[in-house]
Amino acid sequence: MPEKHTATTHLIGLLLGTEDDWPTAFEEILRRLGPVDGPDGARHAFDTERITIEPFSLRDRPRYHLVIDRLAYWYYVPREWLKKVAMMDNVYLLNSPFTFQSMEKHAAYCAMMRLGLKVPETVLVPYKHPVDNARYAYTAARYNQPFDLDAIAERIGYPLFMKPYDGGAWRGVSRIRNPAELHAAYDASGEMLMHLQKAIDYDVFARSLSIGAETMVMRFQPDQPMHHRYAVDHSFLSPQVGEEVVTIGRLVNAFFRWEFNSCETLVTGDQVYPIDYANACPDVALTSLHYYFPWAMKALVKWCVFALVTGRPARLDLDTDRFFAVADEAGMSYQEKLNVYRDLADGYFDAARYHDFWAGQQARLDEVVLDWVAGPDFDQLLVRTVRSVYPAQEHDQFIAHLRGLMDLWVGEETTRLAKA
Ligand SMILES: Nc1ncnc2c1ncn2[C@@H]1O[C@H](COP(=O)(O)OP(=O)(O)OP(=O)(O)O)[C@@H](O)[C@H]1O
Ligand SMILES: [Mg+2]
Repeated sequence: MPEKHTATTHLIGLLLGTEDDWPTAFEEILRRLGPVDGPDGARHAFDTERITIEPFSLRDRPRYHLVIDRLAYWYYVPREWLKKVAMMDNVYLLNSPFTFQSMEKHAAYCAMMRLGLKVPETVLVPYKHPVDNARYAYTAARYNQPFDLDAIAERIGYPLFMKPYDGGAWRGVSRIRNPAELHAAYDASGEMLMHLQKAIDYDVFARSLSIGAETMVMRFQPDQPMHHRYAVDHSFLSPQVGEEVVTIGRLVNAFFRWEFNSCETLVTGDQVYPIDYANACPDVALTSLHYYFPWAMKALVKWCVFALVTGRPARLDLDTDRFFAVADEAGMSYQEKLNVYRDLADGYFDAARYHDFWAGQQARLDEVVLDWVAGPDFDQLLVRTVRSVYPAQEHDQFIAHLRGLMDLWVGEETTRLAKA
């Protein structure tokens, strides 16, 4: 066991696309936090590095102990590198490509329906255009059944949504009110494989962001521009509905072994309908999360630190049977199942040990983050980020807007820490 005065150093790799805001925040908070004492009594230090893309031997040993990935969903060199380090080197990944490449929206819908969640009625319809494959014409002529799109839509009922089975960022999503719109959208879908899904007429849209054992539920306004989508609102759900939204987000993540994911739910009265929860490594940009950005950065730091100091093993397999067994329990109510799912999920994320571990160090982290967010370095990051995201004529407006929201956070956080 390492001695107290010699820290074990863990190297965290970041796989990044165009973003510079959250990586800077993450690096800065870890640097300011410095070494921490692990539950083993040993001292642990953390370094971060932005990973570059280069040839790699499949037998190379990586230097990283943990990697946060925001790149591999579209860039296949790092994706294959991630698979290699997951398979060969036990590198801890947020998230493992093995757990999300095969789990697009469609698979995630199936799994959560199987667990009894209130996923709206959803039908997969075959491609509008022929698949680009020499064997298609023969196969389709022999095996494709003709189908009546109108009858399917009638059964689901209007309005409904047509959206790709593997969607993201509203690509190909349309709200459909009648047969004319149905056919127009289907004709336009081309080679995209589409779902038809019953539209939920909702009171509020609750979007949760989960990082490891922690979850933040935010009021989401999907029809607003990006900077207005997350509303700062602390009590928009009843406590019971709020718990259900948290449970659903954690359940999805524990089931798929996603460590960093967002989950969209539509709430009508006390009914919670999950509609989109395969968003591994979601957007955590300062310009979209604003007020919630410090929370997200803390949660990310806390989870990475916890995983590393406790030597949390990376898992490639899905242990679906444990969840399915609960789903199949006859005579158990929806709420009773949710309670068991929550225990399974919290167990998977080692929530009790996580909270115990951080209880002793949370105050220091809170101060580090407050001090940084209230200071000039953060303000420079804010200005730099706005300049890189918005056109010149909008800089002043968005800098003022974001400063206002961050001042609100600093004020509330100062009060909270003073009371603690
Ligand atoms: N069944 C539904 N009932 C009501 N609204 C829906 C439904 N499905 C989708 N929507 C609306 O359409 C939006 C986009 O749908 P969805 O989230 O499934 O697609 P996406 O491409 O993943 O979008 P994003 O990347 O913004 O999450 C949702 O944010 C919601 O406003
Ligand atoms: Mg969505």
